[in-house]
Amino acid sequence: MMTANPFAVDIKDLTYAYKNGPKVLDIAAIQIAASEHVFLHGPSGSGKTTLLGLLAGILVPQGGSVRVLGQDLATLRSAQRDRFRSSHLGYIFQIFNLIPYLNVLENITLPCHLSPERKMRLGGVTPDVAALDLCRQLNIANLLDRPVTELSVGQQQRVAAARALIGAPEFIIADEPTSALDSNRRQEFIELLFAAADQAKATILFVSHDHSLAPLFTRNLSLLDLNRASRSGEVDA
Ligand SMILES: Nc1ncnc2c1ncn2[C@@H]1O[C@H](COP(=O)(O)OP(=O)(O)OP(=O)(O)O)[C@@H](O)[C@H]1O
Ligand SMILES: [Mg+2]
Repeated sequence: MMTANPFAVDIKDLTYAYKNGPKVLDIAAIQIAASEHVFLHGPSGSGKTTLLGLLAGILVPQGGSVRVLGQDLATLRSAQRDRFRSSHLGYIFQIFNLIPYLNVLENITLPCHLSPERKMRLGGVTPDVAALDLCRQLNIANLLDRPVTELSVGQQQRVAAARALIGAPEFIIADEPTSALDSNRRQEFIELLFAAADQAKATILFVSHDHSLAPLFTRNLSLLDLNRASRSGEVDA
């Protein structure tokens, strides 16, 4: 069960290594309060995407504990972690992970079809209407019936954002979500992200190499400082 917990993220003594590889993460503690907007940065290879994968329950740590929205992920089986992710998390992947055989609209509404909770939080409108509304805000409303394989990278990024935001998930994880957007679109994207998050009182964990975005967030975290594995030189700088 999810228990009342003031923290959206509560990590203790976390260690992670990919199969047969060196330790990639060794983190004593990270705590992120509910509704915080956190900017996570660190050099390429420092383990940012790996950390997000652990928070999303896609990866399982070798040691330590990861609690997300009060839920200890170690107590869930793989299928339960998948359900937890689709109900409570909006994840914008560094590689967008759009489903190639679904069009734009079908990709965006997918979480609502996977999770009754996400559908319930649409506030009475259908998934299609909610998707159209997000697409208007992201300037991709003209693309709804297009195959995602025919989109530009920046367009795919915005489809991935709409899919993450639909149905107001409590925790939004975004891995370099604006890397392919020009500066106007980037600004619009961040504004939409924050507005959607604040409406749902959601927590945001946002990874980017673009330090000009950092001041927009309530807190900055440096993975290089937090990760003892990177400090000990086990990770490429
Ligand atoms: N699937 C994998 N199998 C084995 N090793 C991996 C895998 N994915 C990442 N790694 C290794 O883990 C380390 C951390 O990678 P990660 O992708 O988390 O870095 P990152 O901080 O997200 O980098 P970037 O800024 O380039 O996206 C790297 O040394 C990388 O080579
Ligand atoms: Mg990465």
